[in-house]
Amino acid sequence: MRYLIILGALGLAACVEEPMDGRTAYLVDCAGCHGPDGRGDGPDARDLAVVSPDLTRISARNGGTFPRNRVMSTIDGLNRAAHFSAAMPEFGAGDMGDTIIIEENGLGTPVPERLLVLTDYLESIQR
Ligand code: HEC
Repeated sequence: MRYLIILGALGLAACVEEPMDGRTAYLVDCAGCHGPDGRGDGPDARDLAVVSPDLTRISARNGGTFPRNRVMSTIDGLNRAAHFSAAMPEFGAGDMGDTIIIEENGLGTPVPERLLVLTDYLESIQR
């Protein structure tokens, strides 16, 4: 019995160490408004004055390229367009996990892991 408990504890520790999954993070934080598939049809969206946009069409709305930096700062809340409403929470204020350094144009930029996996996930669902 004691061994089982130890094994269980080890298993739990292994789970905690696993890298954060973008889809899971999305379902927890974003699906309520943007919908389970990102198409803007979440149950909480109905109560908002502003439409929750279809997140699978971000690239399509942006001439075919995924605007990574803009998406990150939109989620984070750090740098939103002037017309952006307050209907969507700023996630940078919450716990976004450990900071990871990403290389861009030879410069290292620290980005919270949760923000990174969320942005990668959104990029992966573009159609
Ligand atoms: C309370 C509802 C709500 C939640 C929760 C929410 N959003 Fe939003 N989101 C919105 C609304 C409303 C807009 C449009 C705001 C505007 O344009 O004024 C938006 C806009 C966006 C945009 C900009 C889309 C574009 O085409 O530029 C991105 C990206 C986005 N949300 C990602 C996310 C992510 C990722 C999460 C989870 C971490 C999230 N949102 C959680 C309501 C929400």
